Amino acid sequence: MNENPEVSERIEMVPVGYVENDYLEPVYNEEVYSKVSKIVLMQEFTDGLYRIEDFEKLYILFYFSKSKGYKLIHRRRYDGEISGIFASRSPYRPNGIGLTIVELLNVEDNVLHVRGLDAINGTPVLDIKPYIKETEQVDNETTD
Ligand SMILES: C[S@@+](CC[C@H](N)C(=O)[O-])C[C@H]1O[C@@H](n2cnc3c(N)ncnc32)[C@H](O)[C@@H]1O
Repeated sequence: MNENPEVSERIEMVPVGYVENDYLEPVYNEEVYSKVSKIVLMQEFTDGLYRIEDFEKLYILFYFSKSKGYKLIHRRRYDGEISGIFASRSPYRPNGIGLTIVELLNVEDNVLHVRGLDAINGTPVLDIKPYIKETEQVDNETTD
């Protein structure tokens, strides 16, 4: 029996924007990491970009809109090992969420120009967060 009522909860999200680039279908292609994409924000979220140029890199959270279904165990692309879905970066996952760090090139009104986004044209963007080097250094021991 499920003792945590939140586990069966459905969560609704609204895309904050969409990806625009030349990739019309999913492809496994390293070339994508040097390509420039646009993230076009819905106008209502434009104010949320204030001071985003303070950061060179961003996390982009997006939805694998063209992936259907998932397998909990599969052969991961990274090293060819059989692994669980949560030990891989497969686009076929229970909640279909992708996460990529991109380089921010410039911002024009509600449009971000970024390099290195491995999401295809039309991909819904769920969230954008700054990559802050100092807070990401999990390898450093803390002294408190
Ligand atoms: C292995 S995933 C990794 C994505 C992200 N870096 C991550 O770790 O979550 C990258 C693959 O997802 C595919 N892809 C990109 N956008 C997609 C979409 N909207 N629906 C389904 N697959 C997509 C790409 O074509 C690429 O082959």
